[in-house]
Amino acid sequence: MSHAAPLDGGAAAEQRAALRADALAGLSAPRKTLPCKWLYDAEGARLFEAITRQPEYYLTRTEIGILREQAPAIAAAVGPGATVIELGPGDGEKAVLLLSRLRAPTAYVPVEIAPEWLEAVAARVSEEVPGLPVMPVVADFTRSFGLPAGVPQGRRLGFFPGSTIGNFEVTDAAALLRRIRVALGPGARLLLGADLVKDPAVLEAAYDDAAGVTAAFNLNLLHRLNRESGADFDVSAFRHRAVWNAEEERVEMHLVATRAQRAHLGNRELRFQAGETIHTESSHKYRPERLEALADAAGWRARETWTDPARLFSVWLLEAR
Ligand code: AVI
Repeated sequence: MSHAAPLDGGAAAEQRAALRADALAGLSAPRKTLPCKWLYDAEGARLFEAITRQPEYYLTRTEIGILREQAPAIAAAVGPGATVIELGPGDGEKAVLLLSRLRAPTAYVPVEIAPEWLEAVAARVSEEVPGLPVMPVVADFTRSFGLPAGVPQGRRLGFFPGSTIGNFEVTDAAALLRRIRVALGPGARLLLGADLVKDPAVLEAAYDDAAGVTAAFNLNLLHRLNRESGADFDVSAFRHRAVWNAEEERVEMHLVATRAQRAHLGNRELRFQAGETIHTESSHKYRPERLEALADAAGWRARETWTDPARLFSVWLLEAR
């Protein structure tokens, strides 16, 4: 997911209109939903960073551990002279880790929709990996994007960590991986982080930490609708729920109405029954064979995979077929 950054007046108005349109559509459906991309306003981005430090949220530290432990194997498999193109670079920590272990990378190309966030990442990587050309690209890679002509054609390595792929429905994930392959060009490779299927209790705890940070992250979506769309949700009448959907192999986040209630958005009245939920996010978890099938459907072949000793998380090196 891309993270929040201040927008200029026109872009902010456009974004507010899109939020309101998505909310009206999602909350008018028989099973209410809100797209997870709206979780990331400035407060949501701050809360997400805090989630990654919660003891129950094993994903970030486990993936960083794999990148660190397996750095020699990853560097050997990638080879020298790679141009690293990262999709949604977050705070740049994983990029610095990877780039400082690869052999003679030629350039770093972070792709991110929020210019201010991109600038911060570019500055961090320039400082921590001195001498490496950094070529930021402002783009929404979840739609379509092209790389500027100046990006070296040689060995291109896409970098898509964090299990962000899990936040897409499986068919959308395949379409996204296909677009990434096309954007990177022939001979491309992709280093992809994907969370693995595991004990549902571990998964549900990761998405419902004891400190209540994930709950605040989820509930912030209603605060955001009140702040930015003039809605009047009584946020105290909703609670966070994280539940493992075994059939779809995903953790779902919902906001549960604790009593029957009404809220308003624009001139629309929204009714909730007690116990009714708004589905706000899915985090798909992959078995290795399903990840391979997903990659295959998108024109990638799995070349290597690395995991941690407890097999919580996986990092894949894919190559374009
Ligand atoms: C960004 N994404 C990979 C996170 C996840 O694990 O699905 C977002 C998140 N939602 C709740 N906690 C973290």
